[in-house]
Amino acid sequence: MTGTTSPSGAAEKVWPTVAVLGAGAMGSQIAGVIALSGRDVVLADTSDEALQRALATLDSRWESSVAKGRMTAQAKQDAYSRIRTTTDPVSGCVRADLVIEAIVEKLDVKRSTFEAVGAAVAPATVLATNSSSFVPSQIADVVPDPSRFLGLHFFNPALVMKCVEIISGPQTDPQLLETAVRFVEEIGKEPVVLRKEINGFIANRILGAVRDEAIRLLEGGYASVTDIDRACRTALGYPMGPFELMDLTGIDIGYLTKTARYEASGDPADAPSRTVAAKVAAGHLGRKTGRGFYLYDEQGTRLGEAPADDAPSTRSEGDRSHG
Ligand code: 3HC
Repeated sequence: MTGTTSPSGAAEKVWPTVAVLGAGAMGSQIAGVIALSGRDVVLADTSDEALQRALATLDSRWESSVAKGRMTAQAKQDAYSRIRTTTDPVSGCVRADLVIEAIVEKLDVKRSTFEAVGAAVAPATVLATNSSSFVPSQIADVVPDPSRFLGLHFFNPALVMKCVEIISGPQTDPQLLETAVRFVEEIGKEPVVLRKEINGFIANRILGAVRDEAIRLLEGGYASVTDIDRACRTALGYPMGPFELMDLTGIDIGYLTKTARYEASGDPADAPSRTVAAKVAAGHLGRKTGRGFYLYDEQGTRLGEAPADDAPSTRSEGDRSHG
């Protein structure tokens, strides 16, 4: 459904019912943003534990906004009550005007999910991926109407970050793109349109260049994690340094993104660095595991720099590259 005017004259919302697939850090906050905009949301994940964790996180984030006077208790209650959860992703999508997939960054898993969802939803349903790296044409061919498929890429933490990249594939209906811009504006975000497909889109490509250089400096022994982050914050005005940011977004997410880019390009410069590969192999994925480039206590308070991890035993082309 697109934004239209109802017989009463009131403007209807673009895509009033949204299904979000995946209740991880991104999916849960995307669901929260959409519920705050007055839309009904179905949050789907095969893990009930992930769904309960997502609801608890939203509840505590919103409770703190209420305590700071940034949100009324009623607005919190309204948003919370608009989110329904299900452990059956396909049935969760059946009544949605828009489906946003925010599951693991693996192409085969995304393709099989969209194949199942695409077969179950109404023809008018819009299908979108929140992939950090894959372009629409890598997925759209599995759904019945590829012209209704696009990318909607949110940033972490999605409740806070304003940008949403809208990724148009060669198969995406240009009118759908315009509607997506209105949708993003209506949910209180800033739309940025990627007009021609490129893996990694805009912000992540720029971020990746900064990250690669930070890792090059670290691996060369030129400066510490702490000082590279401090330079980015205090010299360049970044809200977080690259290592702090990797710990926030999940070191595994960047690893998978770079792996996907490397598989697409074949260019060793696109492959994950040995530093990142070692952290992923050791399970030191950032804040979510209590250890990444820094160490964290149970409350998430940063304790200091983490020791370097040993390089994984099977060394890949990534040894010659960064990120
Ligand atoms: N989830 C939700 N809200 C959060 C949050 C989180 N993890 N962390 C902080 N916040 C909220 C706080 O509650 C606070 O809200 P309020 O203004 O209503 O009180 C607000 O953000 C500011 O928080 P703090 O004062 O505690 O801390 P900061 O001022 O340092 O802000 C930050 C935190 C917003 C995360 C800021 O440091 C920042 O902008 N960092 C950069 C984040 C970034 O670059 N994101 C993009 C990553 S790349 C990506 O996502 C691509 C993907 O493909 C992987």
